[in-house]
Amino acid sequence: MYQQMKAIVYKGTPGVKELLSIPVPTIQAATDAVVKLSYTTICGSDLHIISGHVADMQKPLTVLGHEGIGIVESIGDKVSNFKVGDKVLISCITSCGSCVYCKKGLQSHCMDGGWILGHNINGTQAEYVRIPHADNSLYNIKRYEGSIKDEALLMLSDILPTGNEMGAVNGRIDRGDVVAIVGCGSVGISALIASKTYDPKSVIMIDFDDERLKVAKEFFGADYVLNPGKVNVKEEIMKITSELNIQSREGLDAGVDVAIECVGIPATFQTCQDIIAPGGRIANVGVHGVKVDLQLQDLWIKNIQIATGLVNANTTPDLLKKIESGELEPSRLVTHHFKFSEVLKAYEVFKNSSQEKCIKVFLEFDQ
Ligand SMILES: NC(=O)c1ccc[n+]([C@@H]2O[C@H](COP(=O)([O-])OP(=O)(O)OC[C@H]3O[C@@H](n4cnc5c(N)ncnc54)[C@H](O)[C@@H]3O)[C@@H](O)[C@H]2O)c1
Ligand SMILES: [Zn+2]
Ligand SMILES: [Zn+2]
Repeated sequence: MYQQMKAIVYKGTPGVKELLSIPVPTIQAATDAVVKLSYTTICGSDLHIISGHVADMQKPLTVLGHEGIGIVESIGDKVSNFKVGDKVLISCITSCGSCVYCKKGLQSHCMDGGWILGHNINGTQAEYVRIPHADNSLYNIKRYEGSIKDEALLMLSDILPTGNEMGAVNGRIDRGDVVAIVGCGSVGISALIASKTYDPKSVIMIDFDDERLKVAKEFFGADYVLNPGKVNVKEEIMKITSELNIQSREGLDAGVDVAIECVGIPATFQTCQDIIAPGGRIANVGVHGVKVDLQLQDLWIKNIQIATGLVNANTTPDLLKKIESGELEPSRLVTHHFKFSEVLKAYEVFKNSSQEKCIKVFLEFDQ
């Protein structure tokens, strides 16, 4: 193993990230594994960190990234589920497996983990990464070699569990439901493809970006797409849902059974409140930076539920099964391939994702 490695580092100065040579990580606790990365990707959260919007970011020197696939390079004495040489998927959520939150299935709040990779400890945009609590934070994916594309597997580190858990599962989508998803970025599209596996009657995608809406409809099976810059979303949804036979008592608007917010601004949460039918569920996925109004004076009578959260990444085994059976095909989320040596270029493309028609980038390390 080399002593130095290349890594994308954020030093705490907003707007600046650097490709630096830093020491290769080593085992620090008996439950750690060190993984040699084969593939990684960039997430919107990495852009948030670089913009200086993530207040509790460890400074002054953190390797970014919380998604990846790699090969186990070394393990601590207490790691029992993995051995050196195993091909593993790295979860964006580190889980000790034994604290009160892990036991409740709230791994995102693990007392010794949660979202720490590329946030509070060095992450996956590097040739090697140290994974604490390896037994509960990695998945052995060797058996999928040749049957599931690495592009599809990489989507399981973060965005597919996020779209599934915080969107489809929290929205409790039932067979025959009408679902609206506000925001058609990689998380919104992940919520769309996850939602389709729960057999909804229709999924409506809402975004200002016509190109993304087109992709959602043509490649990912959205039934309706609405651009709020061109149509009145509330009126259109009421038309669509009344055509789909969702009714309500006089004086109350009908609307969708499930509204999934995948942007993270007040206007899009407001849209969800405007379009939810009686008995409906609003699932908030977006990360909000400012205060958002809750229209309880209109909503109290509608028997709705609102769910929020940070992904727990505990549905990954279910999602793997759905990919294996062909029910889910997330590899199309990858629109751009780069070598890791081109990571700065990949960041530029991802940052300008709308113009570049980019959903997710796939970064490959030299082996
Ligand atoms: N809860 C979690 O665990 C979790 C995990 C990952 C990401 N997220 C959050 O999910 C959100 C989406 O992530 P992403 O990577 O897909 O972001 P993105 O920026 O790629 O996509 C957001 C989309 O929203 C659209 N948009 C902006 N304003 C709009 C409006 N007023 N109406 C309709 N659409 C609008 C944009 O055109 C864009 O297509 C972010 O807030 C991100 O931080 C949450
Ligand atoms: Zn992420
Ligand atoms: Zn825990």
